[in-house]
Amino acid sequence: MAFNVKALAPGFGAEVSGLELREGMDDGLAQTLISIWRDAGGLMVIHDQQLSSEQHISLSRYFGPLFGDLGEQPLQDTVSQYIHPDYPEIYRVSNQVDNNGQPRGRKGAGTYWHSDVSFREYPAQASILLGKQVPETGGDTIFADQARAYEALSDAMKKLIAPLYAWHDFEIAARTQYAKPVVVEDDMSGTNRARHPVVRTKLETGRKSIYVNPGFTSHIEGMHAEESNALLDYMQKHCTQPQFLYRHRWRKDDLVVWDNRSLMHYAVMDYPDDAPRYMERCTVIGERPQ
Ligand code: OGA
Ligand code: MN
Repeated sequence: MAFNVKALAPGFGAEVSGLELREGMDDGLAQTLISIWRDAGGLMVIHDQQLSSEQHISLSRYFGPLFGDLGEQPLQDTVSQYIHPDYPEIYRVSNQVDNNGQPRGRKGAGTYWHSDVSFREYPAQASILLGKQVPETGGDTIFADQARAYEALSDAMKKLIAPLYAWHDFEIAARTQYAKPVVVEDDMSGTNRARHPVVRTKLETGRKSIYVNPGFTSHIEGMHAEESNALLDYMQKHCTQPQFLYRHRWRKDDLVVWDNRSLMHYAVMDYPDDAPRYMERCTVIGERPQ
């Protein structure tokens, strides 16, 4: 299949067009796309993908096993209502409700800097989000490249953070980030806390990136609260500088694949409720951060 690949931004990201994945995905094409994605620092946009849920799931599995595949605990206990009723592998994000007043997906998902599921011992690797309904304007998603953010640090700062570990806790987002918490106490059970290195190395490339995020990281282990807060504040400021960002303006049927090991992302909720937005996400379970 002939298709086009362009850079999304000078530092990272690939934009693929002229490809119809619903016509068939095979091992060869999957490996080609995975290497394009990897070489682009873990961000790839594939336009014009009208995929069935089965096709979305099966192409996502080329990246690895999915949350929902293993019959494991849902990402958080209360997200079950956002999981696709027929496909446990699909998590839904939407500002819409169905005829029975049930949400069609999590509203306001990710409206803060985060890396998906970093509060688990085995956090997300790729997230594969399909934009089925997108507002005419607004509802962009911003990505921040944490590999280049790491590389831009001084050697002294790299040395300082190299041995550090941070705790990630879903409760941070639940209590502080959602405009109106839709969260009940079940969300606070201990399974949504994890300890990870502040700098992680991607298995396939050996490239290092910063792995703390304002959404879920509660504190740096072994530091006083003031020290930890100061360092995390600095990291946020450093990591979200414009030269590390790409802002994606969605087209309907965009399939966006990002690598949570080396990117943070932020959903901009600047669109009104009467501008429908509906997205479906498959999420790959990654390795334990090292
Ligand atoms: C996500 C997420 C971003 C968006 O699905 O993980 O953060 O723009 N969504 O909806
Ligand atoms: Mn997210």
